[in-house]
Amino acid sequence: MKRIAVIPGDGIGPEVVREAVRVLKHLQDTKAVELEFVDFDWSAEKFLRDGVSLPPGALEMLTAEFDAILAGAFGDPRVPSNKHAEDILLGMRRGLDLYINLRPVRLLNERLTPLLNRKTSDIDFVVFRENTEGAYCAAGGFLKHGTDDEIALQEDVSTRRGVERIIVAAFEYARENGRKRVTMADKSNVQRFGGDLWQRVFKEVAKTYPEIEANHQYVDAMAMHMVLDPAQYDVIVSNNLFGDILTDLGAAIQGGLGLAASGNIHPGKVSLFEPVHGSAPPLAGKGIANPIGAILTSAMMLEYLGFQTLSNEIEDAVRGAISANETTRDLGGQLSTQQAGAAITARLVNTGKK
Ligand code: NAD
Ligand code: IPM
Ligand code: MN
Repeated sequence: MKRIAVIPGDGIGPEVVREAVRVLKHLQDTKAVELEFVDFDWSAEKFLRDGVSLPPGALEMLTAEFDAILAGAFGDPRVPSNKHAEDILLGMRRGLDLYINLRPVRLLNERLTPLLNRKTSDIDFVVFRENTEGAYCAAGGFLKHGTDDEIALQEDVSTRRGVERIIVAAFEYARENGRKRVTMADKSNVQRFGGDLWQRVFKEVAKTYPEIEANHQYVDAMAMHMVLDPAQYDVIVSNNLFGDILTDLGAAIQGGLGLAASGNIHPGKVSLFEPVHGSAPPLAGKGIANPIGAILTSAMMLEYLGFQTLSNEIEDAVRGAISANETTRDLGGQLSTQQAGAAITARLVNTGKK
């Protein structure tokens, strides 16, 4: 039995998570997997109502009682400070020490990419985004706040241990998955201290993986190459902020934010799975959001929990639905969020519970 904490969150979060849970419940009814879902209403709504974002004791409770967390998205125009999202999402990433943000970029069907003449094999890589430090440390401050002479300082923190563990994770992944190359993106030509640390650690770690090609690109150049020649990438590793930006671009070349999945992982610990997209306020409540990002996220979660075959089956069902144009309108189909989720569920072959 695996226990899953479900945190739908804000905007389209609940709409897409409902479809991911539909798929998981179908697998639980028809295949050899036992899952228990417990819902948590941590969201902008709760924050505005009760003043509570991430409730006290939440991290300890998640660690003690759950195997994985499935989340939607956090962000609401009624909370312009984004305080609740920072507390809940970044709170779980940092507080649970989920140092790997694993974001696959895969073209599931040639017609989905906005790039011309690309085969599915041309867009198939994974991004290892450092997930606990960098520009996300909330370190900094104001001087002379609110005056014409105001100074805002925003620190970018890289620790030796933090840099090393994400780079090692990227190389380990490459080794285990038969990937040939790890490419690090940084801005070490300008960010001389943090960039220098990343450079040194990358070279050191790379030496211990002689069979894997270690490659470096400045992040601005990578953004260009990702559009012009995405086929060169196998595994990308970068810091928190560059990884964030690169993976929205990655989402775009695989067909849009509605498709992109992610895992916030600390191997062996309770980990958090969420689509790459946000709460998309203009789409919320309309039943038109694409649930595939959330559904592929649930496939990543199943893989993490040890159910590789079931994870593959979800992916196959998603591929099938896309090929048959059983999709929401962002992918050219005509289905609602719920219909798209149901279409994917219907493609999962029932084997009968073992
Ligand atoms: P967003 O990802 O919410 O949406 C950007 C655009 O992408 C949407 O307007 C829509 O056109 C498209 N899109 C996104 N998801 C889609 C889906 N499932 N189906 C179809 N189209 C989809 O980014 P944003 O507008 O910059 O941010 C909105 C809010 O979400 C902000 O508060 C932001 O901070 C937050 N956010 C949260 C997360 C998260 O919780 N992980 C991630 C990104 C943004
Ligand atoms: C993401 C999002 C978050 C991030 C925001 C909502 C804090 O953009 O998950 O990619 O910057 O990490
Ligand atoms: Mn992002």
